[in-house]
Amino acid sequence: MRRALGLDLGTTNSALALAGAERDVTLAHFEHRGGVTDTFRSILYFHPDARDARRGITSVAGPTAIDEYLEADGTGRLIQSLKTYLSDPGFEATSVFGRNYTLTDLLSFLVRALCGLAEKQMGALGPRIVVGRPVHFSGGKGDDDDAFAEGRLRKAIAAAGFEDIVFEYEPVAAAYYYESRLDHDELVLIADFGGGTSDFSLIRVGPSARKSPQSERILGNDGVGLAGDALDAKILHNVVSPYLGLGSSYRSMLGKELPVPVWIYGKLRRWHHLSFLKSKRTTELLREIQDQSLEPEKIRGLVHIIDQDLGYHLYRAIEKTKVALSKDDRTTFLFEDESLRIEHALTRADFESWIDEETGAMSECVDRLLARVGLSAKDVDRVFMTGGTSFVPAVRRIFDSRFGAEKIEAGGEMISVASGLALRAHDLS
Ligand SMILES: Nc1ncnc2c1ncn2[C@@H]1O[C@H](COP(=O)(O)OP(=O)(O)OP(=O)(O)O)[C@@H](O)[C@H]1O
Ligand SMILES: [Mg+2]
Repeated sequence: MRRALGLDLGTTNSALALAGAERDVTLAHFEHRGGVTDTFRSILYFHPDARDARRGITSVAGPTAIDEYLEADGTGRLIQSLKTYLSDPGFEATSVFGRNYTLTDLLSFLVRALCGLAEKQMGALGPRIVVGRPVHFSGGKGDDDDAFAEGRLRKAIAAAGFEDIVFEYEPVAAAYYYESRLDHDELVLIADFGGGTSDFSLIRVGPSARKSPQSERILGNDGVGLAGDALDAKILHNVVSPYLGLGSSYRSMLGKELPVPVWIYGKLRRWHHLSFLKSKRTTELLREIQDQSLEPEKIRGLVHIIDQDLGYHLYRAIEKTKVALSKDDRTTFLFEDESLRIEHALTRADFESWIDEETGAMSECVDRLLARVGLSAKDVDRVFMTGGTSFVPAVRRIFDSRFGAEKIEAGGEMISVASGLALRAHDLS
């Protein structure tokens, strides 16, 4: 019998689940530093020794990748949010220590590592897998881009050894997870907020609804390519970048006062791209700016972050600030390395004003979906919120205000999609 396997290859976190004959779900566990988790960081690391092909070292993935990166004192290449690039035909391959890897190669390393660990726990996984995909891939501009992204994702999973690959929308999978706990039927709006995308499904769930074909149960799906990473970028822009010279000026060789180019800070946003700022041309430009800057301390800080490859540390400090603001009304952003110290107090209200555009795009997407299927908020029995970014109070408020707090349910933030994919795999076999 084929095994009922579900893979949630998330932008930030991945998970793998197996459903048994009784639709009982087991999640793969990952041991790390004496603890056990059921999610696996979607992160890859290439040790500097990967340069030496004879040593056969390519990459490590998941929590070990972060450990090795930190142990190697920030040398080597750490790559995150790979899924975000799937829809971008411009990202075909990247060079790591002189070797070219396609995006498909990189994703397949991740899947292989995760499945390898799961196999030790669950036994041979077999050829069949149900894999989640967002309704619209991040960065995509239409159906063609989504099809292109799905095609590349399929290739990556096939390269990791699976022959029979079935895709399911991530929010539909989350609906199956939610449904598994229900004893009555409901019309539910699933809202899954991750690292790269926010996805929505309007679907009938419950013991009787389950007997209808899926095509009749799903009223509509939609999504936007904005989620946790986009919120981090707003903290980077509003809190961190001004300390590193954004908005400051320098005197050009002709004596003209010029603003420090904004594009440099755009690269910081893709923190794992920081190494690209080490090119000869950018290094020379930064040296010139630093020499002629009206606030050279700030540019010195920027150069320090680039030189010392501190992108990951910066990203962690930003994420920590964001997570703190899900709980508290105010917090202090702190980043320290040698003589560079950035300390900045901020409130949840500040953060909410910066992410207004993102939460606005999420709300519009929900309204569009309801309008398209001809329903209003009162027709929806329940809203099920899941995914890491659903912890953000401003994201929650979108639903509280439209549907009423009493209709909101939340849960399975990190595992709902993988669990639901395994249930889908069970029902298909
Ligand atoms: N308490 C919290 N407050 C705010 N954000 C959080 C919190 N916990 C996690 N996050 C954010 O949630 C995101 C990760 O969520 P999740 O694991 O659901 O995403 P993913 O499934 O990997 O991504 P996607 O579904 O978009 O491919 C990250 O951006 C992380 O910073
Ligand atoms: Mg997800």
